[in-house]
Amino acid sequence: MAVERVLSGMRPTGQLHLGHYHGVLKNWLKLQHECECLFFVADWHALTTHYDTPEIIEESVWDMVIDWLAAGIDPASATIFIQSRVPEHAELHTLLSMMTPLSWLERVPTYKDQQEKLSNKDLSTYGFLGYPLLQSADILIYKATQVPVGEDQVPHIELTREVARRFNHIYGKEKGFEEKAEAAIKKLGNKRAALYEEMRAAYQESGDEEALESARAMIQEQQNLSLGDKERLLGYLEGGGKIILIEPEYKLTPASKMYGLDGQKMSKSYNNTISLREPLDVVTKKIKTMPTDPARIRRTDPGDPAKCPVWQLHEVYSNDEVKGWVQNGCKSAGIGCIECKQPVIDGVIAELTPIQNRAAEYAEDPTIVKNIVAEGCEKARKLARETMREVRDVMGLNYG
Ligand code: TRP
Ligand code: SF4
Repeated sequence: MAVERVLSGMRPTGQLHLGHYHGVLKNWLKLQHECECLFFVADWHALTTHYDTPEIIEESVWDMVIDWLAAGIDPASATIFIQSRVPEHAELHTLLSMMTPLSWLERVPTYKDQQEKLSNKDLSTYGFLGYPLLQSADILIYKATQVPVGEDQVPHIELTREVARRFNHIYGKEKGFEEKAEAAIKKLGNKRAALYEEMRAAYQESGDEEALESARAMIQEQQNLSLGDKERLLGYLEGGGKIILIEPEYKLTPASKMYGLDGQKMSKSYNNTISLREPLDVVTKKIKTMPTDPARIRRTDPGDPAKCPVWQLHEVYSNDEVKGWVQNGCKSAGIGCIECKQPVIDGVIAELTPIQNRAAEYAEDPTIVKNIVAEGCEKARKLARETMREVRDVMGLNYG
């Protein structure tokens, strides 16, 4: 199998909290060892909703990168960069906007949903409508094959796939395509050429998806083929024209078990978060003042963990033994709520301490962080430039 290229981004609109850590970052940590990963700060996306409070974005960008690094994102395994430092994203966004039907954007469910949810802001802007197309540009410019996202982002990835398909359909046609594809097959060498023909027939004649997959992998691995020939061979496999932009797949981030201090999903808008930078005495205070099962008015009243937000944190932080102690102790009024909260406090503090120590080191030496990001931007730009050269070419913008 050809190596997957993973791309994902986060909007810098405030401090990261334990919900981000358990929901997104832990998933990134795992992926960075399995695939080629690109992670970026989506500052332009943040501006679509925060255009009137740019200071929030400015404040959050570096803190966010520091939190990623402190959480264990390793610049040796993942490329970390900032969207606005790779202006090619904007160029591709503009070019894609030429061929994207307005109705495709208007019917993306997040468009109306978010407008209603954030009704205190005027989001009937051009930029906000284009949000998912900018996201498509982010993804397509790197030919990413996998995009880890939460469920709410799935329609954006589906739009991206449709845009790529339409783009390839319109711009993948070239004069003499078949002859060029046949010539490219010959460049594979006899053995591989025969294999390619065999797998192409298996897919086109009997819909053999496995054959399609192995043929794609074989093409991606060829070192001596030009990019153009690779695109021709990929397209010819399926019977179309050149495949210039790759249709990405989404990789659903496993639903986070992280609940907030009030039993709802942890989220800034519910004001129920523990941030990654939370001073540890505040962590203790926040957990100590968490609501518990309302049936436990007096210490002697039995309760039910199923009705208590503290229990949801035990599910994340406690082992079976402690969980058994909570279940029994709560239902029999054998333990008090203060006692019950202590292992959760200890668990959160044990998790945050090394993260905060590493964050403090990075915060003390901002040049390290700036260098990591500068290097990441450089790497990203190199990839982005390559795609843009081709895109400009097929869109008739390469004036000699
Ligand atoms: N829209 C994403 C979010 O709010 C952030 C994002 C922007 C993104 N561009 C992306 C995610 C590209 C994945 C790929 O979470
Ligand atoms: Fe919640 Fe624990 Fe109190 Fe039971 S004992 S109500 S689980 S805090």
